[in-house]
Amino acid sequence: MDRELINEIREKTDIVEFIGKYISLTKRGKNYFGLCPFHADTNPSLSVSREKQIYKCFVCGEAGNIYNFLMKYENIDFVEAVSQIAASVGIEFKKNTKAVVDKNKDLYEICDLACKFFQNNLLSHDGIEARNYLEKRKLNMDIIKEFQIGLSLNKRDKLTSLLIKKDYNINTLNELGLTSGEIDTYINRIIFPLFDINGKVNGFSGRIYHGESTNKYLNTKETPIFKKGENIFNYKRAKEEVRKCKFVIVMEGFMAVIRAYTIGVKNCIALMGTSLTTEQINLIKKLSTNVYLCFDGDKAGITATLNNGKKFLDMGFDVKVIPLSDNLDPDDYIIKNGSEKFYSLISSAVNFNDYKIKNLKSGVNFNSPEEISGYINSVLKEISLETDAIKREIMLKNLATETNVWYNTLEKKLNELLSEKRVSNTTFVTRDVKTRKKDKYEKTMQEIIYYMLNSSKVINLVISSKVYFPSQVYRTLVREISYFYEKFGYINIADFLSYESDLELKKYLSEIISLDIRDDETKDDSMVILELLKVIEDYNIALEIKRLEKLIMNEVDPIEQAKISNEIMKLKLRS
Ligand code: CTP
Ligand code: MN
Repeated sequence: MDRELINEIREKTDIVEFIGKYISLTKRGKNYFGLCPFHADTNPSLSVSREKQIYKCFVCGEAGNIYNFLMKYENIDFVEAVSQIAASVGIEFKKNTKAVVDKNKDLYEICDLACKFFQNNLLSHDGIEARNYLEKRKLNMDIIKEFQIGLSLNKRDKLTSLLIKKDYNINTLNELGLTSGEIDTYINRIIFPLFDINGKVNGFSGRIYHGESTNKYLNTKETPIFKKGENIFNYKRAKEEVRKCKFVIVMEGFMAVIRAYTIGVKNCIALMGTSLTTEQINLIKKLSTNVYLCFDGDKAGITATLNNGKKFLDMGFDVKVIPLSDNLDPDDYIIKNGSEKFYSLISSAVNFNDYKIKNLKSGVNFNSPEEISGYINSVLKEISLETDAIKREIMLKNLATETNVWYNTLEKKLNELLSEKRVSNTTFVTRDVKTRKKDKYEKTMQEIIYYMLNSSKVINLVISSKVYFPSQVYRTLVREISYFYEKFGYINIADFLSYESDLELKKYLSEIISLDIRDDETKDDSMVILELLKVIEDYNIALEIKRLEKLIMNEVDPIEQAKISNEIMKLKLRS
């Protein structure tokens, strides 16, 4: 990739104006502040520096340049981010990702072929039993076509030999999970193709349709084009519909999604039995931040609703719940109660907090003072999380009526909780970004690197001091920064950020740039830097002394012992 072009594009785009298009920023002192879009922010904690052309969030620790911002916000990769920004400043930037696309092109082609093969099987003479099964489950031909449902045959190597005849490599087929050795992976199952976010087939789920088997569904494992934690069923198809109705319904399985589709509810997606990942949340965020959870009505479904609801809430979503009764899943519910009932269930979806409170109530024995008091305390805790004061009052009134406890008593308790919360909130904001514990030496190394990123003078000081950084990551960072400086002749954080591609290093890098260090004159004061370097040097010496002391204990020769102890003396004098 063309480094200079990447830097040029970045320089043409002012970060304050750029981020200002996504969130509103207010000037405070030298920097600009706004609500951080990467966590549920209530106090503007995202700071944008025009001088340095970087942003950082003091609460969640997100930090970077315009490319990092766009990548994270739009959930796209670096090349895509550069090319979007390039287009906006009228620079031509050719995406040099042909190799990757071409490599995966084969894989997508194979999935497509396999999908067509399975579809044909279902319509063939051998598919009669499977067709009957689908008919019994009320899936007609239109829906079978729409979701490209197919069938794998009761033979061992049908698909394998077809694809090999087409000159595909057996290793590639294995890699895609379509074959195991030289045998078809899917034998005698109804095949539901899975799709990536662009609607291309990237994997399969095969369901047994007769007989008993413990393995109801057989799913594609991890492949180069199918990542379990990033896949969402029906994402592409739901996109348009979500745009229209402005909310997305999240379900557990694809059968539920397909069923909802048959009755015209087309804004549903499914997680497919996985626990919700951050990647999935980010993808869903691009559809809508209004989610309705419609999980199975059994115990597992309730637990999943509570867990996932919290995750969505923490990421700033509005969360509602469509609760199903009698252990039904959406599919069963619609079959049993009809579409109208389901429509009205959607329109009366309950607020996630209300759902949680209702859930706390179930099973409480209202004749037992202990249980009532336990219930009240847990509800009060939920109410204290509500940010709207009016809603809090309504919830509190309901609680008073419901439990027959005096409103003022409850209010007093709630206020206690609220003031506790305020205290812990403020300490959180002013405390270090990351709760990760760092010792004095790690802090010092981070500080030195921070200064290196801000001044070439510091880079030179560090290089000429030849101080050894006693940690692999920081050593590598120091080396990379020095390399960048030597190669390009300058240093600035914003460009270094787009230069560094190692994910692990990037994590540390964003931790370092969000350090709360005042950028005053001390930033390249040699005395200050040498002082910091000495801390590291002393640490190294202490380590070396420890090593020698161990050595001396195991040494029997008195002459050698004397030599080592002399070494130790010398080291002690240096620190
Ligand atoms: N799942 C799976 N393997 C299993 C069971 C479930 O991968 N052995 C995943 C599937 O993606 C499924 C989802 O978890 O869609 C929900 O599971 P479940 O509720 O058991 O399946 P249903 O969607 O109800 O499917 P069906 O009605 O055909 O049983
Ligand atoms: Mn089901």
